[in-house]
Amino acid sequence: MFKKIKKNTKKLQDYAHSIIPGLSGLLGKRPEMYLPGGQWPTYYSKAKGINIWDLKGKKYLDFTMIGVGSCVLGYSDPDIDKVAKKIISQGPLTTLNPPEEIILAEMLLKTHNWADQVKFARTGGEMVAMAVRLARAFTKRDKVMICGYHGWHDWYLATNLKDSKNLNNHLLAGLEPSGVPKGLAETVIPFNFNSCKDLDQVIKKKAKECAAIIMEPARNTLGCKSFLKSIRKIANENKCVLIFDEITCAWRNNSSGVHMDLGVYPDLATFGKTMANGIPISALIGKKEIMEEAKNSFISSTNWTERLGPACAVEFLKKHKKLNLGKILIEKGKKIRKIWIEAAKEAGINYQKNSLNGPACLNKFNMSVKTKKNLRLEIFGIEPLSSFKISTQNSDDWPIIITYFIQEMLKEGILASDRCYSNYCQTEIALKKYEKACKKIFKKISYFLKKRSLKKQLNGPIKQMGFKRLN
Ligand SMILES: Cc1ncc(COP(=O)(O)O)c(C=O)c1O
Repeated sequence: MFKKIKKNTKKLQDYAHSIIPGLSGLLGKRPEMYLPGGQWPTYYSKAKGINIWDLKGKKYLDFTMIGVGSCVLGYSDPDIDKVAKKIISQGPLTTLNPPEEIILAEMLLKTHNWADQVKFARTGGEMVAMAVRLARAFTKRDKVMICGYHGWHDWYLATNLKDSKNLNNHLLAGLEPSGVPKGLAETVIPFNFNSCKDLDQVIKKKAKECAAIIMEPARNTLGCKSFLKSIRKIANENKCVLIFDEITCAWRNNSSGVHMDLGVYPDLATFGKTMANGIPISALIGKKEIMEEAKNSFISSTNWTERLGPACAVEFLKKHKKLNLGKILIEKGKKIRKIWIEAAKEAGINYQKNSLNGPACLNKFNMSVKTKKNLRLEIFGIEPLSSFKISTQNSDDWPIIITYFIQEMLKEGILASDRCYSNYCQTEIALKKYEKACKKIFKKISYFLKKRSLKKQLNGPIKQMGFKRLN
């Protein structure tokens, strides 16, 4: 069947949906999250740098998150590939353990000198689940506090058992806790990022009941130092484990976890995503007394012992440092933001600087900006993890705007979305092409919005915005 329909994207998508529920292992790779209705290429044949080829052999420039943020060196990096090929020829999973995990552990401990020990897994979600297990074992408490996205596991989705909107402020709105044991209800307490109010009313009040406070130290903005320091203090006073989830934000601004720049140190930290530039590996680092719980609590998996992950991660960390990649990624992020700002200016869209770009604490942690401007561009994220939003006074317009943007960028041979992560392979030529396309499409957005006819320009349904059932 596959061979017969592989060049018909719509048929292939429908068929894949019928035998692989949800089509992809990752919500963010479902075609409905970009362009529903068979337009999105969905499957690839090969990828190199930021070039990606679909099953018909058509080449695109990838200006999305590039492997959902997993390949900052670009696809198929020659140095990582060389190590991977060597490991494959030497037997990637055997009865004995890969020595590279010791080298990798040493490297992680050297760059994060507050930590004593390391554990490895292969995905981000399971790494945070391990951190939560250890914190619960160490403190003998069940409840945890969260801020951010931390994966698909029961412990996290339990946040939505009491109120299905509890996770709406944490990256993915509408996550259904279907299948999560009801007994876990009220074991997770969410709080808002950089929120002074939540610091007093949630974190301070609840910490003594909690095994852990788990948060991303950066997401839509960097964590405010004073906010993070207050959390650190509360965790200490209440003997609560502080966990920084660095799965997305590490190795973007620097050659380590972002918390090393912020100067606030957790008890445990999790890493994943780009750690081996697309080869699966994740890591948990932490203080000995908590990490040693891994000897008491049963935590174990066959595939966590394969060799590709640690060997490629060692190469990635070396190359990252040698290139001073954090600096390059910040520069690329600045260029991408400049493109959006200039494209907006030329299209008559007001650029609205939001509080998320500055130190949020100066704004008393306000997360939203009110403006009377009709059509405005906002930019979010630390530079290497930039995203934009074009808003009108009608909130229903944004899903139409972003669907149209993706649709038109695709016509220009560019995979795009509202998020554009920095990448080593974003050359000046590629950036120029992206700039030209953004300028053209922002102008069209502005024009059709004024004519109130943007929706009519869509060739298919509006894209899916959060999590929802696909039938
Ligand atoms: C902060 C954070 N934690 C956990 C995860 C889950 O990682 P994975 O998708 O590798 O399971 C993600 C993924 O996007 C993430 O951004």
